[in-house]
Amino acid sequence: MTFRNNVISAGLLLSVFLSSNAGAQVWSETTPGLKQLQKMPSGVLEKPELDELIEIGEKLFGAKFTTTDGAGRPNATQAIIPTKARHRTNTNFARLPGPDAQACSSCHNDPVIGGAGDFVTNVFVSEGFSNANFDTTDPQFSNERGTNHLFGAGLIELLAREMSADLIAIRNDALNQAAINNEPVKAKLETKGVQFGFITALPDGLIDLTKIEGIDTDLVIRPFSQKGVMTSLRQFTVNALNHHHGMQPDERFGARWTGSDDFDEDDRNNEITNADVSALVAWQATLRTPTELVPSQENWKTAAAEGERAFADFKCNACHIKSLPLKSLKFQDPGPFDVSGTLNNKQVKTPATYDMALLEWAKSLPKNSKGETLVPLFGDLKRHKMTDRSISTLGNELLSQRFVGRDIFMTAELWGVGTTAPYGHRNDFTTLESIILAHSGSARKSRDAYAKADSETRSSIIAYLKTLVIEK
Ligand code: HEC
Ligand code: HEC
Repeated sequence: MTFRNNVISAGLLLSVFLSSNAGAQVWSETTPGLKQLQKMPSGVLEKPELDELIEIGEKLFGAKFTTTDGAGRPNATQAIIPTKARHRTNTNFARLPGPDAQACSSCHNDPVIGGAGDFVTNVFVSEGFSNANFDTTDPQFSNERGTNHLFGAGLIELLAREMSADLIAIRNDALNQAAINNEPVKAKLETKGVQFGFITALPDGLIDLTKIEGIDTDLVIRPFSQKGVMTSLRQFTVNALNHHHGMQPDERFGARWTGSDDFDEDDRNNEITNADVSALVAWQATLRTPTELVPSQENWKTAAAEGERAFADFKCNACHIKSLPLKSLKFQDPGPFDVSGTLNNKQVKTPATYDMALLEWAKSLPKNSKGETLVPLFGDLKRHKMTDRSISTLGNELLSQRFVGRDIFMTAELWGVGTTAPYGHRNDFTTLESIILAHSGSARKSRDAYAKADSETRSSIIAYLKTLVIEK
């Protein structure tokens, strides 16, 4: 990988300042870290290079983007597909359609940078709108979502990639078998112990997808967003830069896709380079995982142990699976499953590879007998229906997103939940007990077991969940 040489400290220090920030005074109103990395990283990074890249990524995640560098999008909307605004807006910020913050860390900051956010950091999601200058919180115009934390996000993406590859291999095998035997082949979609229903491959090469569960028809697991509809940290980062900050990444908003280097018409070209996005992804992907705290108070320790048992007895772990096994800790960026508007590994000469095994926190993760890393996410990366006729609290969205039913959400990973109140996809539950009681649909039996338990057992589950923390 190449960084431009720093004039001041040639030698070990590799990073530098490029054009827009070159020679900038410390008080200049530019965006710290922006365009510091001249080229996209590529190949396998050694530890010092990785550390340096992560440092630039952290700077960018915490940076307050300025209009000097292109913040704001007077003539473009927050829509994921580059969309011109119907009316030019000359305000830098707008609470509902955005831009709604000056930095990523304005929302992702609890308990530390990269963390979750309180209700006040909620975002209004309306990806399909051609004119998204709405000015009402009426749920018919947008879905309101709470800010979730990003700790362990790289491992989540790696799990999703391995699971998608497994499911696609099952589909290909079934298609081959059906062609060879000239008869339909029914195959179970199971990976890492999580079941996604069935497919039936037909001899003529068609597939019956009507029995798939909790996943898209292309069998790619999309682990990000609480709806489970975003593929990668890279895709989410490109979305977020435009939506929240009006900073438009070249890889989606540049001339290649839109025919213009200034799609939002704010007189700033090439606001975010591919290398800037890479640095942001590298920082997020290498964020340490949340941990399971061993309480120092005896009564908390006893209650948490009891709670862990009840969590299993009530089958909370049917969806919130304690850990999933990961074969490889090597994170490739850009990744394999992104499409138009987000770079993928086929569109660059050599993708970068970050080996998480180099990172101190990753060394303490447990392994199974096959040498696979056990990622303690408390999730299954699968979508589930969360309402039924008598309890429909979590069915509060009116707009469907990417063809996913309105009352269907991806299992929230519970690692870190002890430090990320409030709860639920809208961050509108102040207690763990209230979000647990709001579960329904596929989780109804489990929820009822909790509701019927004595108060001591219920409280033990809370004691257990409170041990799942993000350390400061
Ligand atoms: C105004 C608040 C806000 C800002 C600013 C913000 N985010 Fe987020 N972020 C959210 C919310 C809300 C969600 C959950 C969205 C959903 O579930 O649909 C989220 C989710 C994410 C996710 C997916 C996490 C997951 O597990 O599903 C990533 C990645 C992310 N943000 C990265 C960023 C980056 C990078 C930036 C800056 C470029 C940023 N965010 C700026 C509020 C914000
Ligand atoms: C059928 C799958 C399923 C089962 C079973 C299940 N959950 Fe969940 N859980 C989910 C989904 C999906 C969400 C996200 C819901 C939302 O926000 O809309 C969730 C969210 C949560 C949250 C909120 C997390 C956050 O960060 O806001 C907690 C806490 C939780 N579950 C605990 C439990 C407990 C305790 C049990 C057992 C009594 C349980 N769950 C059983 C699927 C399940």
